[in-house]
Amino acid sequence: MKELKIGIAGLGVVAQGLLEIVRNNGALIAERTGVTIKVVRVASRSEKPGVDLMGAEFSKSTDDLWKDSQVDVVVELMGGVDVAKNLINSALASGKKVVTANKAVIALHGNELLNKKTRNRLKFEASVAGAIPIINLLQGSLVPNRIQQVVGIINGTCNYILTAMEQQFLSFESALQKAQELGFAEADPSFDIDGIDAAHKLTILSSLAFDMPFDFKNIFVEGIRSIGEKDIIFADELGYRVKHVGILRNNEGRIEARVHPALIPKEQLLANVLFEQNAVSVIGDASGSMLFAGPGAGSLPTASAVFSDLLDFGSDNGLDSEGLSKESAKPSAFELTTMDQVCVPHYLRINVLDKPGIMADVTKVLSESEISIEAVIQKESEGESDNASIVILTNAVEEHVMQKAILTINSLPEVSEGVVHIRLEGMS
Ligand code: HSE
Repeated sequence: MKELKIGIAGLGVVAQGLLEIVRNNGALIAERTGVTIKVVRVASRSEKPGVDLMGAEFSKSTDDLWKDSQVDVVVELMGGVDVAKNLINSALASGKKVVTANKAVIALHGNELLNKKTRNRLKFEASVAGAIPIINLLQGSLVPNRIQQVVGIINGTCNYILTAMEQQFLSFESALQKAQELGFAEADPSFDIDGIDAAHKLTILSSLAFDMPFDFKNIFVEGIRSIGEKDIIFADELGYRVKHVGILRNNEGRIEARVHPALIPKEQLLANVLFEQNAVSVIGDASGSMLFAGPGAGSLPTASAVFSDLLDFGSDNGLDSEGLSKESAKPSAFELTTMDQVCVPHYLRINVLDKPGIMADVTKVLSESEISIEAVIQKESEGESDNASIVILTNAVEEHVMQKAILTINSLPEVSEGVVHIRLEGMS
């Protein structure tokens, strides 16, 4: 029996989940793997007397974790960026192994943290899509493939909000509050609803799928604040669900990397991933198309992924993550493309003063931009007889063409609010 001694930084929902798994399943895991996980130290700014630390030492300083010669693996579950990054750096420099669930740190500092000396000692399965083992898949089972596309619902909070708005008729605010109460949301939920959290995760996936450096600043990011109840209803009428997705698509060596709301046809599996569930669909040239779905946030699901990294260390079967860092043998064959060149169909909701000729004015702007209309519906607003919504689905058109047309439509005198614009994704 091998004993792996761990020190945990943080005592939030994921850390508590990890302690719970050790307590409830530790003996079973030891029986299955021959590895006993022993928590020897916990460090957190605030003490939580109600949490059973299973005999571990408690300290307020996270430095105590890497300074403790007993600790084999530092498990960083604090969140935040700078303090967490410094802890990971110190732990790696002192020769420790590190497991983190911190997507922001890996997305923003992965190039520096995962170098030749450290890349086999830093694991981050829990950083993307909670319990779904997508990091292990990209670093392991899917290595024989050239990845063509990765599309994921990778923020549980956004998916919870959009699902609750559609199925429970909740307002955006009440749905967000519920997601926070259930422990899915980030400490600052604007990271969830503005798409930053998903972009951190997509940065990590892009690096693993395409052997690229971690390049957060070049990911296109839009959140879900502009999505109204009307959009969810109109999308439904047109046969779609609104989802917040992260997309990586290989167009002959140029990679689209974008995070934004999208209309997904209702019959597709991804459209049926509901509430806090996450899903990642991957197309490999050999494997074909696969979909991995499961809980993407929350205490035990995230802790389960943390545990899998610990067991990789415990069994010494950790997969070599060569190819992740700038110091890997060859530069990546791929580069990120700009959003302007992305070519997809679009949904437009235009709030107008309902005057004769307004439909003609809007369609004229589109036809002058050589944008074809695939479907159109017009609805009078309830109780406001002089207002109407025009909803248009277009053909596939490059982003820069669509953005120019939207600016022109917004300048029409009868258009009373900014156009709501959602891209369509019809992937399998
Ligand atoms: N806030 C994140 C989410 C937690 O909602 O998906 C998991 O990374």
